[in-house]
Amino acid sequence: MAKIDIFPGNFTLSIIKPDAIENGYISNILIKIMDDGFKITAIKTITSSKKSMIKFYEIHEKKSFFNSLINFMSSAPIIPMILKKKNAVKDFRKLIGNTNPLIAKKGTIRNLYATSLEKNAIHGSDNNSNAIRECKFFFPNLLSL
Ligand code: CMP
Repeated sequence: MAKIDIFPGNFTLSIIKPDAIENGYISNILIKIMDDGFKITAIKTITSSKKSMIKFYEIHEKKSFFNSLINFMSSAPIIPMILKKKNAVKDFRKLIGNTNPLIAKKGTIRNLYATSLEKNAIHGSDNNSNAIRECKFFFPNLLSL
């Protein structure tokens, strides 16, 4: 099977989170992403185990919100996707806005669709090496790297 060629800098990993799915925002969010010039290269709906989310968010292990975040992200379906665009990581973080929806700029995905600091609608990789790690995490058999 042909694999996806990942070039650092041109890909990012996003997850539509349970709150946004529950609130009926899947299509609004996908349209915002495509209108901003991103190509959706891979996408799936899954319900993640706690164990898997603990691994995914391991860099936040010591944070006070860690247990709550893990419970939230494994409580209901999520939609991970690989997004392709030049300067994907930086451009996508601009599109989704600040982690805190109260601070996120007007018109950003979190400003429009997030529920709270934890239930903030969407995830985006924070740098190129994490983007590769996170794309591999959810789509291990699709990538050429
Ligand atoms: P995300 O971009 O997925 O990366 C880590 C997640 O932890 C973040 O979005 C939020 O869902 C959550 N998070 C970050 N900071 C806090 C906080 N102070 N309180 C609760 N949840 C947080």
